[in-house]
Amino acid sequence: MDITKFAIPEIIFGRGSMNHAGQCALRLGAKKVFLVSDAGIEHAGWVQRLMDILEKEGIRWIYYPGVTSNPRDFQVEQGAEFYRKNGADVIIAIGGGSALDTAKGIAIIASNGGKIRDYEGANRVHRPLPPMVLITTTAGSGSDISQFCIITDVERGVKMSIITRTLVPNISIVDPLILRTKSKTLIIQSAVDALAHAIESYVSTIASPFTEMHSLKAIDLIIRYLPHAVATQSLDSLEQLSIASVSASMAFSNASLGVEHAIAHSLGGHFDMAHGVIHPILLTGVMRYNIDSAREKLGDIGRVIINKDLGSAEKNALAGIEKLEQFFSSLDVSLRLRDEISEDKKHFLKPICKLAVNDACNLTNPRPASWQELLKICEEVW
Ligand SMILES: [Fe+2]
Repeated sequence: MDITKFAIPEIIFGRGSMNHAGQCALRLGAKKVFLVSDAGIEHAGWVQRLMDILEKEGIRWIYYPGVTSNPRDFQVEQGAEFYRKNGADVIIAIGGGSALDTAKGIAIIASNGGKIRDYEGANRVHRPLPPMVLITTTAGSGSDISQFCIITDVERGVKMSIITRTLVPNISIVDPLILRTKSKTLIIQSAVDALAHAIESYVSTIASPFTEMHSLKAIDLIIRYLPHAVATQSLDSLEQLSIASVSASMAFSNASLGVEHAIAHSLGGHFDMAHGVIHPILLTGVMRYNIDSAREKLGDIGRVIINKDLGSAEKNALAGIEKLEQFFSSLDVSLRLRDEISEDKKHFLKPICKLAVNDACNLTNPRPASWQELLKICEEVW
């Protein structure tokens, strides 16, 4: 086996774990915390709750509310300026992938300078980042666990993947109680993102035994618990989705992803689409594309999805893909690209695929892909 590494943050998991945020900040030496969140989380009352928790520990804070979905390069750069001016020493972010990625982008610029696009790709951040505590409010993006940060380059209209071990936060707090304020749509979008992370990381060319076990665990939990979580929003099933998301995140953070995410980043960057909308459309198409290069592994995934063994990797893989298509059909989601993109914008797929081929996620796909092949996948799911 090749030499491998496995980096994860300290993870504080469980109902009510958010109450530990103040002590976490103190352990990291916080005197003045830089708080990052967005209007939705504020509205749900979680930002005030976090401020109260910090105040109880005697920690001062400054709040940066400038987060939108699909965070932009200039927002991160403005945030870094705000961080520097206010003399903060620890970053705490609470939110979904957008808030957490904004915080990570701010951390990069605040400590390394320059523009966020200078750090696009793998291992381009050289100086240490401020200590970070990330509190996720979704069960999917994995930004609270991962060494990934996704920021939109407005000029090029593309989501940049910034990947470096220093982006792994010091502490991740995963409190399933927070998920109770989420809509069914967001629960689905987050879970299918985690599912895509689990599947792509499992077949990744740099998967290891330390990531593979987490990938398979996540797939199993999402298939079993998502329908129940959507129907009932019961805390027990939401907690299982949180466990699935942590597992998928530990896997993809260390094994990276594949062409499904490469295309998703470029599509999302161009059309400002919610990330979670794209996976039910693309994922099974990409699995079919990969089948000749990852038959055994897609067979393992199929066995978990159908919960039985049909006797050959090929049969398990195909049955798993079919079952997954039925699974997505049973959710209230778009299943074709044309459901999200109008016919008159279809011609943008070509430049989108030309950008996607350069996404860092493309490097670890089991079957190499040219932009023409990515376009073919998009046309097949149109
Ligand atoms: Fe994702």
